[in-house]
Amino acid sequence: MNNTLTHPTRTEPEMPYDRLLAACTVFNAHYSDVMCLFPDKYFDWAVCDIPYGIGVAKMAYLKETKTTVKQKNGNRINPNRNKKKHTFKDWDNETPPQAYFDELRRISKNQIIFGADYTDWTGLGKGRIKWNKGFSEGVSFNQFEYAYCSCIDDEIEIPLLWAGMMQAKSLSEPMVQQGNKKLNEKRIHPCHKPVMLYDAIFKRFGIYKMKVIDTHLGSGSSRITADKFECEFVGAEIDSEYFQDQENRWFNYKRNLKLALW
Ligand SMILES: C[S@@+](CC[C@H](N)C(=O)[O-])C[C@H]1O[C@@H](n2cnc3c(N)ncnc32)[C@H](O)[C@@H]1O
Repeated sequence: MNNTLTHPTRTEPEMPYDRLLAACTVFNAHYSDVMCLFPDKYFDWAVCDIPYGIGVAKMAYLKETKTTVKQKNGNRINPNRNKKKHTFKDWDNETPPQAYFDELRRISKNQIIFGADYTDWTGLGKGRIKWNKGFSEGVSFNQFEYAYCSCIDDEIEIPLLWAGMMQAKSLSEPMVQQGNKKLNEKRIHPCHKPVMLYDAIFKRFGIYKMKVIDTHLGSGSSRITADKFECEFVGAEIDSEYFQDQENRWFNYKRNLKLALW
């Protein structure tokens, strides 16, 4: 494991558009080496997705590429045909300790943390975001995932289809599946959350032109949403393979954005 700040990268402004100017710094590093760099309440939001401590990065499905799924028209297709075969890893053996939560609250004004219910942290409030992922035949995972949210006291639901190859069409039709599977978001990480989920969260909580940190970057979906919402973003990811994958994804995203804007 690499615990030092070996690969900080900063996107340089390329064009006079706000979305391309938004500052974004990511570190291939342990979260604690990044969080300690920031003063109290520096970030408006911490939007994080911590290890749940359930060993997801060692599960057999990660190597599975042969399962087929029956479509409405009776045909069977293989949703995993283009899936990356993931390397088994140990990062999901345990949840971050209380000290992580305390430090996150020190550096940020508001927190959204997926996986917080798997911890025994003291100080967690009652606010929850319930992500309704829908359900698909052949997918054995939970239909719901929960995130702790510090700025609400109740539970709000965000519906957004993300089940096997069924992915949401748009934010305005979140439970209607994208008809053209070629437009599906490619999963590059075993716990990849869709950009559209972060879009829905940022929209719901008005996270626009703010300072945001994600301490467990993974595929970099939060980074892309932060860019779309013109936020100043800081991310940390300890694993060098995941870090490089999200860097490649990021540069593709930026290249496409630049082409679209011209
Ligand atoms: C649940 S996944 C995040 C998935 C991400 N939300 C996405 O959409 O792809 C947790 C990530 O945290 C990383 N991680 C684990 N321990 C870490 C640490 N101490 N510091 C930074 N990142 C860590 C793992 O390598 C993994 O990529």
